[in-house]
Amino acid sequence: MGKILVGGEVCLKGEIPVQGSKNAALPIMAGAILHRGYTVLHNCPRISDVYNMEQMLKDFGAGTRWEGHTLILDCSQICGTAVEEGLCGRMRSSVMLMGSMLGRCGRVQIGYPGGCVIGKRPIDYHLKLFADMGAAIERKGRQLVLSCKELKGVRHRFPRPSVGATENGILAAVYAREPVILENCAREPEIRHLCAFLRCMGADIEGDGTGSICIAGNSRLHDGEYTIPADRIAAGTLVLSGAVTRGQVSLVGAPREELDELLKVYEKMGGQFSWNGGTLLTDSRRVRNNVGEVTTAVHPGFPTDLQSPLMAVCCTLEGVSRIRETIFEDRFRVAGQLSRMGARIRIMDNEAMVEGPVRLTGCAVRAQDLRGGAALVVAGLAARGQTVVECQEYIERGYESFYEEINLLGGRIVKIDSKT
Ligand code: UD1
Repeated sequence: MGKILVGGEVCLKGEIPVQGSKNAALPIMAGAILHRGYTVLHNCPRISDVYNMEQMLKDFGAGTRWEGHTLILDCSQICGTAVEEGLCGRMRSSVMLMGSMLGRCGRVQIGYPGGCVIGKRPIDYHLKLFADMGAAIERKGRQLVLSCKELKGVRHRFPRPSVGATENGILAAVYAREPVILENCAREPEIRHLCAFLRCMGADIEGDGTGSICIAGNSRLHDGEYTIPADRIAAGTLVLSGAVTRGQVSLVGAPREELDELLKVYEKMGGQFSWNGGTLLTDSRRVRNNVGEVTTAVHPGFPTDLQSPLMAVCCTLEGVSRIRETIFEDRFRVAGQLSRMGARIRIMDNEAMVEGPVRLTGCAVRAQDLRGGAALVVAGLAARGQTVVECQEYIERGYESFYEEINLLGGRIVKIDSKT
């Protein structure tokens, strides 16, 4: 695995555009399989998770082509129904192929999804829904085989809101025989984006953004084009990178309505911001105060994906910041790495108490998951000396040009390839 060298004590200043959203792009790509024809996705982030999903679509027989950040998918001929085990083990979103392949082909053979180790991350909600819709589910070694003649309409209530299960249910329901009503759905923006995409392809869906979504079923899809929206988590990570360096970072095309909770916390620490059209201007020169208590929650609450980068910033704030994680059971692993840099963090169950300010010191640390890896870069920007982040491949699963962006803003990050 490779590593990156993060130069510390920098002050980030300048303007950069926000990349396309990973968590919107992946289910939308899985959704392209539903259509026997062309799907054109603009602003698609060029990150390893997207390339892995592209490979899985190719393995099914899809044609794919990139033109800059536009990904053109031709799913007119789908011949395979099995996903290579290694590929689906690499990312969580491979699970999304269950819904779309059941809808399109009535069969899929797929391993358990991988992705970041941030908790148990079972897929029982997904499987229970497919079973309710009439799919047969068989275990074959380490793989699952899902099959059906036709999926039927149901009214299904999720035990708790799950982003992935809601998306998977929507994908499966597009070709269901009768309408499907999903209740207690997640309301994350990526679900609205998936539904907007499917509607632009011809599907009939109502209620996305609320807890109850109705998919008419029996859809007739047609060729379509869709622009992947800006990535709220990448944007949030850049806001926090500016905060930790007390800099002034502007983000062109930041997703305004999706950053509310982060910006509330940013203001608590003393950050100031304004909007100029679609550009978010942040000014972190007065960032100083602890954030009090921040609790991660389903949308519209504080996003769990920004919890680790926030923790890195809290190390530099005065007093105690308390961070409660309510979505994943094992998402404080980065605290151990931050402690190596001098952070004072105490973990009690699902609560982290971050005491500051401390003078972080650069040292060798290891990324263990995507957002935790980004948090180590954030910490490194403020640290004295150089921080060596090992296993940076995790970061590249979700951030397209994070290091280049930081460098454009005045940072000093150098990537060392694994071979050198
Ligand atoms: C998605 C995002 C991830 C984000 C998370 C929460 C993608 C690719 N990933 O992950 O970045 O952190 O939403 O916003 O979009 N659960 C079950 N059984 C299930 C499904 C979920 O118990 O079948 C539990 C999970 O373990 C977790 C909670 O429900 O505790 C929420 O998980 P979920 O919303 O499904 O997250 P993902 O879709 O995996």
